[in-house]
Amino acid sequence: GAPSAAVRDLEGQRVVVSAGGTREALDPVRFLGNASSGRMGVALARAAALRGARVTLVGAHLDVPPPSSVRVVGVGSTEQLAEAMRVEAASADVVVMAAAVADWTPVERSGSKIKKSGEDELTVRLRQTTDVLAGLSATRARPGQVVVGFAAETIADPVERAEVGAAKLRRKGCDLLVVNDVSGGAVFGSADTAVTVLGADGSAVDHTGAKEAVAHHILDAVRRLRGAG
Ligand code: CTP
Ligand code: CA
Repeated sequence: GAPSAAVRDLEGQRVVVSAGGTREALDPVRFLGNASSGRMGVALARAAALRGARVTLVGAHLDVPPPSSVRVVGVGSTEQLAEAMRVEAASADVVVMAAAVADWTPVERSGSKIKKSGEDELTVRLRQTTDVLAGLSATRARPGQVVVGFAAETIADPVERAEVGAAKLRRKGCDLLVVNDVSGGAVFGSADTAVTVLGADGSAVDHTGAKEAVAHHILDAVRRLRGAG
């Protein structure tokens, strides 16, 4: 159906959205980061606020301004994002992990700028970060809380992409997984997107268009899970 932009069907609900990309420091001036603009998460936060929700946006290095209708908690690293989400999710009805979370963080962070040592190569040891989404899915701080994850896959074949997405949804334990195809690299920072919304019930629905419109479709799916009341 059409996006329910004009309907205040999330009135009284508390929605927490993470957006942007986390950065892991290598030294005081360098980091490992990613190309997420935060646009999809910001669109979701704005759409949820339009529909009457009280929205908190946990933002990591956003390239786009957050709407004034939402409360913003700024974070930098994955560890900071994990802690902010843990705190905010405790009182949330809906939790959305739209942030591109760094998978790896340096085992050691240099206190001073890393110098060219005379070697041609530099080896940096990395360890895996905390899986924030899996943790939030397992916790479910509130009864009936809906948890939504995102996945950016560079798999061009739609059938294979859906299979990988379904396996990821099960692994994460979330209710919905929004999968997009980033094989062309076109989605990052773009106004448009193409996604498949996978449900824990095995459903798969495609949506294409402006991120604002796709955000409303995702919230429609959330709304259905929250019940019609
Ligand atoms: N995510 C998270 N914590 C991490 C990594 C990812 O919460 N340390 C979340 C993302 O915010 C997203 C979902 O998990 O909602 C899927 O992220 P994705 O990168 O696709 O999955 P990974 O489990 O990191 O697997 P991989 O990158 O190897 O495909
Ligand atoms: Ca990842």
